[in-house]
Order: sequence, then structure tokens, then C-alpha cells
Amino acid sequence: MTASPHTPLLRIENLSVDFRTDDAVVHAVDGVDLEVDAGEIVAVVGESGSGKTVTAMSVLRLLREPPARVSARTLAFRGQDLRGLSPRALRAIRGGPVGMIFQDPMTALNPVLSIGDQIAETVLLHQRKPDRKAARARAVELLGLVGVPDAAQRVKQYPHEFSGGMRQRAMIAMAIANDPDLIIADEPTTALDVTIQAQVLQLLQKAQRETGAATILITHDLGIVAELADRVVVMYAGRVVETAGVVELFAKPRHPYTLGLLASLPRMDTETDRLDPIPGNPPNMAAPPPGCPFHPRCALARDVCRTDRPPLFEISPDRRSACHFHEELA
Ligand SMILES: Nc1ncnc2c1ncn2[C@@H]1O[C@H](COP(=O)(O)OP(=O)(O)O)[C@@H](O)[C@H]1O
Ligand code: SF4
Ligand SMILES: [Mg+2]
Repeated sequence: MTASPHTPLLRIENLSVDFRTDDAVVHAVDGVDLEVDAGEIVAVVGESGSGKTVTAMSVLRLLREPPARVSARTLAFRGQDLRGLSPRALRAIRGGPVGMIFQDPMTALNPVLSIGDQIAETVLLHQRKPDRKAARARAVELLGLVGVPDAAQRVKQYPHEFSGGMRQRAMIAMAIANDPDLIIADEPTTALDVTIQAQVLQLLQKAQRETGAATILITHDLGIVAELADRVVVMYAGRVVETAGVVELFAKPRHPYTLGLLASLPRMDTETDRLDPIPGNPPNMAAPPPGCPFHPRCALARDVCRTDRPPLFEISPDRRSACHFHEELA
């Protein structure tokens, strides 16, 4: 199926995900819209528990259903509806046109297969005429590409013989093995040492440039966002609360939650590195507060905030804010 020029690469409309447990329903994702165009890097940011991972996992139906219950008006990749696809068709997309990188490569890698076999497996799965020897050679090539030294030897090693940074490189190798159109990277560097984080990010950036793949970069590190992203989607309590181009978002946030996230960044332009974290904690998603879910923590909250849920107001074609008072923040 060919997509018309106005079909985004990925279109998610009104995605909701609930988890049913014995005594509660957790509304992990509540009406999320997300579009990604070919080649763009979209950062998804927000505190822990805001629904970033669940959103990403929903795209290729990686959540166990049940306990998850996923619904959406649209869930389309390259114009193709993902919802009716068979498990087999979904497997053909994962690791093929959509590459995925997770926070903890140890859970994503198979501990009893060598790194080389796992990369070769990904290559083989997407070859029209499976050629094991070519796939093995490609595995060595890919591992070299992602900067693993001595790749020809190290392909024979097992995940536990790789350091965290090297494992994440192997994950990137798998994600780009089949020339993806979209890379979904969920906190790809969070589990790594700071020095290794920078290297892995640079590598991810290089991989993105070379494949031209659009990227959904999930992170809580706004420094990474400023450096890499074209566009930012801010999530809070399972919803998108603000979206804007990266420059606009940093220069003029239009949602108090985004303001709070930015205020908690270490500042380069002042003497202090004092952080102002947002007071309080994200809500319990089994019983979110009425009105604006951010109101218990929001310094600007007024009466209407405690009763009326703000919709995602369109400020301009590529800018949205879910705050009743977004105009005052201009
Ligand atoms: N398998 C699950 N069962 C129940 N609740 C879950 C499950 N997975 C995630 N959640 C809940 O969904 C919400 C969103 O989680 P998540 O998407 O992982 O957040 P983030 O990635 O933004 O930190 C959280 O409240 C989390 O506790
Ligand atoms: S709607 Fe009200 S509570 Fe919510 S972010 Fe805006 S000002 Fe704060
Ligand atoms: Mg997460």
C-alpha cells in the first residue's frame, strides 16, 4: 500500500489503554493522539508513570491483552491499519520497518543466544530468500557499524558477556538491521553510565541519519530532547498535555507542567545548579483527580481547573496545549 503525501508515517488517534487488576482499573493512557512524519524525530517526555512506554508498546501490540485493554480510533503505519493485523504480520513489522530499542536490553535480548545469532535472526526473518551465511556476515557488519570493537569475535558472545553500553549498541544494530522507516527508542540510555549515555546517543543519532528513519524518542532527559528532537510531545497522567516544535517548546512553553519540567533542568546561564522540581507526585491512575489532572500540583490552578477537564487546545497547526489558561502563558 502506498501512502499519499499527507498520510503521516504513523498516526495514532484517541489511543486509550486500561489495565484491569483485581480491585482497580488503571487508566494508563487516556485519549492520546500522536503523529510522526517520515524522517522526523519526535521526543515523548514526561515523568515516570505518564504512559510513555504503554503508548509505545501499543503501537505494535506488545502489551499483553488482557490485562491491558487497548482501544483507538486510528492506529496506522504507512497508511495501514495495525489493529486487524495477525501476530505474524505484526512480527514482520517489528524489527523490519519498525525497529525498537528498549531501556533494558537484558530483557529484550535472549540470554541463551549469541549476540550474532540474535542479530542474524532479525536479518533472516525479513529476508525474502533466507540466507544464513549472508545474515551472519551482516550481523558482523552491523555490530561493527554500531561501534562494537572486534565485531567478528564478539558476535559469538552472549548478552551477559557484553557491558550495558555494548548491549544497547547490539539493540541498535538489531533495530536498524532491516533499514527501518521508524525507530521507537524507549529511554535508550537511562540505564547506562553518563559517559556511555553520550556515546550511545551519538550512535543513535548517526543510525537515524543513515537510515533516514523517523524516530520516537522516549526520554525524561530534556537535555537529550534539546539536542536531538524536532518536535516534542509532553505527556502527563496518560495524556498529551503539550506538543510543539522543540525550539518553541523550550522558548515558550504553553503548559504549566512543561514549565515545571523546564524549571527542573540544571541551568547553564546561572551560577547555581539548583533544581526546582515540580512539587508533589503524579496522580494515581486508578483514581485520577477530576478536572485538569495536573491541578493538585499546579501553581496556576483556579476553580475551573478542579472541575473541567481541559481539551487539547490547538494554538497553531503544530502547537497544542491542554491548559485552560494557555493564552495567558503566551
Ligand atoms: N502491566 C501493567 N499492569 C498494570 N498497570 C500497568 C502495567 N504497565 C503499566 N502500568 C501502569 O500504566 C501507567 C503508565 O506506565 P508507563 O507507560 O510505563 O509510564 P512511563 O513509561 O511514562 O513511565 C503507570 O501508572 C503504570 O503503573
Ligand atoms: S488547566 Fe489549570 S490546573 Fe491544569 S495546567 Fe492549566 S492552569 Fe494548571
Ligand atoms: Mg517507561
